[in-house]
Amino acid sequence: MEKKKQYTIAVLPGDGIGPEIVAEAVKVIELVARKTGVTIDVEYGRIGGIAIDTDGTPLPEQTLEITKRADAVLLGAVGGPKWDQNPGHLRPEAGLLGIRKALGLFANLRPATMHESLVDASSLKPEAVAGVDLIVVRELTGGIYFGEKKRYTAADGGEVAEDLLIYHEAEIERILRVSFELARKRSKRLVSVDKANVLESSRLWRKVAERVGADYPDVELSHMLVDSCAMQLVRAPKQFDVIVTENMFGDILSDQAAMLTGSIGMLASASLAEGSFGLYEPVHGSAPDIAGKGIANPLATILSVGMMLRLSLGLDEAADAVEKAVWSVLDAGHRTGDIAADKSQALGTVEMGKLVLAELEKWETA
Ligand code: IPM
Ligand code: MG
Repeated sequence: MEKKKQYTIAVLPGDGIGPEIVAEAVKVIELVARKTGVTIDVEYGRIGGIAIDTDGTPLPEQTLEITKRADAVLLGAVGGPKWDQNPGHLRPEAGLLGIRKALGLFANLRPATMHESLVDASSLKPEAVAGVDLIVVRELTGGIYFGEKKRYTAADGGEVAEDLLIYHEAEIERILRVSFELARKRSKRLVSVDKANVLESSRLWRKVAERVGADYPDVELSHMLVDSCAMQLVRAPKQFDVIVTENMFGDILSDQAAMLTGSIGMLASASLAEGSFGLYEPVHGSAPDIAGKGIANPLATILSVGMMLRLSLGLDEAADAVEKAVWSVLDAGHRTGDIAADKSQALGTVEMGKLVLAELEKWETA
């Protein structure tokens, strides 16, 4: 990747705990900039409920402009009970779906890694989950999420709804290529998940996966039906390394994979476009129940910054340093409420952020 000396990050804190966790992550970006001598400018924009309230739309034009001139986007979370009764196009989620489509963010990477010191946080047996290190690659701009939707009254007077699940082979091919490339850098095993015993779109998916696979003879491709995958994920998760699947299956399986680790407050994600542009966000949502209390776990957002430094900015050493700082803080026994065994000892958002910054401060740049 071409190394630049100046980057712009569009920061969209969003709703709920979004602003609190993003504030800590931005401090990490600023520290990385100071330590590396790279200029990283931050531009703020609105998305989700806050944008509905302020601009009358979950994805204002101005926000899209900011993101389009940035090298990467950092997003907090969107949504909350306040907007739950709104019509579809005025829901915070519409902002998220809109930005994915508008920025061409077709490849969603959701790693689920079990960190040793957090094994007890999982609801599964330690021996089943210790060492889990997998990544779900979810197609993010196609399928049933974006196919035509209809509501009408049938001849018998009953109400009918339709959501079209549609894929062009080019959409399947590009997400498969991302996954094969990723598998190549990891264990060289790729599981493609579909429902080819029932769905035509899945049969096309499988055919394209096979065709693309011929270009990656060093990667072992296997296929799994989505129901079976759901079962295997809780039965024997360690068999998986890279999983690739279509949009809605990926939505479901990535939540399931996340919960294997028991600490959804720890999981980062990347949504990538063609090239190095990407949007980075924690996997957990806006957690309206704890918003504004200063107790949310900022680590997933900080780890999302790590992914951003690596995948969009090409600052691999900085990415390593950020991840290392997070793990050191955890290894030293520090916990926010979501992952603490003893809740009375739990740290707040800012305190946790400070500990990570202090660790990162120790990083000696080359
Ligand atoms: C996710 C979320 C979104 C999705 C919602 C909020 C629209 O569940 O990012 O997984 O379904 O894609
Ligand atoms: Mg989801």
